[in-house]
Amino acid sequence: MILLHIDSSPLGSNSVSRHLTERVVSEWTATRPDTRVEYLDLAADAPSHLSADSLGFRVGPQAGASSEAQQRENAVSERLVAQFLRADVIVVGAPMYNFSVPSQLKAWIDRIAQAGRTFAYTEKGPIGLAGGKTVIVASSRGGIYSTNPALVGLDHQESYLQAVFRFVGITDIRFVRAEGVAMGEAARSRAIASADLAIAALLRTPANEGEAVLAA
Ligand SMILES: Cc1cc2nc3c(=O)[nH]c(=O)nc-3n(C[C@H](O)[C@H](O)[C@H](O)COP(=O)(O)O)c2cc1C
Repeated sequence: MILLHIDSSPLGSNSVSRHLTERVVSEWTATRPDTRVEYLDLAADAPSHLSADSLGFRVGPQAGASSEAQQRENAVSERLVAQFLRADVIVVGAPMYNFSVPSQLKAWIDRIAQAGRTFAYTEKGPIGLAGGKTVIVASSRGGIYSTNPALVGLDHQESYLQAVFRFVGITDIRFVRAEGVAMGEAARSRAIASADLAIAALLRTPANEGEAVLAA
């Protein structure tokens, strides 16, 4: 089994989402020693925003020979989509930034959302081509959204990630969440402790099982 561990927070050891992904991965591998872990640190090595040079995989071959820049960008997209496709389990550290995800995580999504590789349009609409994987999102956010009806509609972070992974065909999408981490030291500690506790329950279900969307 291959587990792809992705972090996107730039905050190093102060990052809540990095703390959570590390815990998820170490608890996962402790009970599944046959797991091979691949690591992608998007804060250290993010793909660039999509550009005329990197859009080849979406718009098809362009007239004339591809330039050096296009070949380089295509190689980046290919490396990232191939890495995503070969993973059985993907653990994603996802802070909330301005109600959504950090742009480095969005840039990765832009490289793996490839027609013909991870999804396809058919006469009946889009279908996902990357099913059978388990995604575990380690979500961190300053405010509390999940239990506040006035704010829940502002969550374009977890809801966006859920939409993207579903779009590519993944049905086993799980969330572990530390929220309210900007609401004082006590609230931050409580949020992290409660997320830590939720991880064990989250990992009890084996990978790639069923249609379950489990929310911590
Ligand atoms: C640039 C930036 C934007 C943020 N935007 C939001 C936001 O829209 N809503 C929110 O609740 N928290 C927001 N936060 C707080 C982070 O979600 C919170 O600090 C989280 O723990 C960051 O993840 P990390 O600790 O893994 O870096 C923001 C933080 C930063 C640095």
